[in-house]
Amino acid sequence: MLYHSPMQRIDHVFVLTGAGISAESGLGTFRDVGGIWATFDPSRLATPEAFARDPETVQAFYNARRQNLLAAEPNPAHRALARLEAGLAERSGRLTLVTQNIDDLHERAGHREVLHMHGELLKARCTACEAVAEVRADLTTADPCGACGCAGGLRPHVVWFGEIPFHLDVIEERLMAADLFVAIGTSGAVYPAAGLVGAARRAGIATREINLEPSDNAHLFDAADYGRASETVPRWVDGMLRHGPCAGP
Ligand code: OAD
Repeated sequence: MLYHSPMQRIDHVFVLTGAGISAESGLGTFRDVGGIWATFDPSRLATPEAFARDPETVQAFYNARRQNLLAAEPNPAHRALARLEAGLAERSGRLTLVTQNIDDLHERAGHREVLHMHGELLKARCTACEAVAEVRADLTTADPCGACGCAGGLRPHVVWFGEIPFHLDVIEERLMAADLFVAIGTSGAVYPAAGLVGAARRAGIATREINLEPSDNAHLFDAADYGRASETVPRWVDGMLRHGPCAGP
């Protein structure tokens, strides 16, 4: 166990990550200057309607992101969170990691359980039978589904605008059981993820933000560390594992 303040025990840390944690691995963020949605129009690339209208363009966008991901490596922030997961488990505690990221850098850093609320880029889903399969090569609009054989219906297993994120029930259940909520590298602009800090506060759970700069929700956090995730996250994790109470406001 760890201690949030001299009086408060921390057995369960709930971490929400966003694009900022993978920025130093070379994967673009969305809303920063030069970010993905500053360069590309999400209504043409990340909606079910866009896929129905122009599947080649949508597949090409995600194929390029998949190749970029395969060339990327986890950075010290991903590795630090994996250390925290292991360190808490050794103390009979628990880390719940929910990520908005569709990359697999938490897993490659050694994290055991990752809840991908916006899906996973290295998986494809069949729109005919819903089967999910791993994918590393480029997807085409002619590829057959390995499960039902239906051709042309494979789509990236990611959540598009207008779709419901994955794991919402388990996310709420784990959040309500947590002692500390930490948001890392997310702008706080996309719901329902952006609403988790408010839910944590209402439940009396301590909150901390770790980001390059104050997010849209900065006023809702009890404590904050601003700077590059590759520096701030390992420092916070080291403090948690060494002293325990460092997470306090
Ligand atoms: P955003 O691009 O909205 O925000 C990224 C945040 O990371 C910003 O607040 C940056 O200041 C911060 N940041 C950038 N570089 C950083 C660094 N080196 N260290 C620490 N922080 C850094 O990304 P998300 O909040 O993840 O959804 O976006 C949420 C969702 O919007 C995404 O999952 C995606 C997108 O539309 C879907 O595609 C469904």
